[in-house]
Amino acid sequence: MTFAIIGGTGFEDPFKEAPSQEIKTPFGPVDLLAPQDEDFYFLSRHGRNHGLAPHKINYRANIWALKELGVDFVYGICAVGSLKEDLAPGSICLAKDFIDQTWGREDTFFDGDFRPLAHLEMTQPYSPYLNELFEESWGQELFRAVYLCTQGPRFESAAEIKVYQLMGAHVVGMTNVPEVVLAKELGLHYSLVCHVTNLCTGLVDRVEEVGPLAPDQKKRVLEAIKKSFKHIDPSRAGGNTHWV
Ligand code: HPA
Repeated sequence: MTFAIIGGTGFEDPFKEAPSQEIKTPFGPVDLLAPQDEDFYFLSRHGRNHGLAPHKINYRANIWALKELGVDFVYGICAVGSLKEDLAPGSICLAKDFIDQTWGREDTFFDGDFRPLAHLEMTQPYSPYLNELFEESWGQELFRAVYLCTQGPRFESAAEIKVYQLMGAHVVGMTNVPEVVLAKELGLHYSLVCHVTNLCTGLVDRVEEVGPLAPDQKKRVLEAIKKSFKHIDPSRAGGNTHWV
């Protein structure tokens, strides 16, 4: 079994000193870190210095590189804004579903060019098994959120946030689509740990500068992920990719 973590905003650096590895993919090269004494790969979604805007991330290359390395289980980590007053900044939650409001991104391998056209079934975009494992490792019940992905890099208007609330979204971010979709297309079991950095536009007078996760919370998230990796039983992970 091979594992990976995809870290986002505020999570680029935990393994900065780890040996890096360049993986060639049909979509371009990807730099990954292979931390010593650990049994997982670490991929910094925005590049190692947070240089890549959400719509410019090479999502297909990232996921392909993980597949190339034989990765089966992935925890993504994303910074999100909260649409719920009671899901306050500093909270951790897990994703259970998504709404896609992005445009123009390369969001499939099965586009009829690279691979024959195929339609992925999407009842469970996120692995309920990995979610449960993380919750157990975390030691507290965690809210399961509907994640709405915006195009970014700007934040939302207050009117947009009202619409997103009506649509049933709980948190907003800019990167999890197409990451989760591509992972599923290649049969990876994927779960998303969200850390809330702010209440969204309109819920506060002004959205404050989005701060990084506090160091102790960051450590706790990583420890819970590592513990989850240790307890994975592939026979309990269930089927993942279904085509309609
Ligand atoms: N909106 C979109 N993406 C985000 C936010 C937000 O308020 N906070 C962190 N990522």
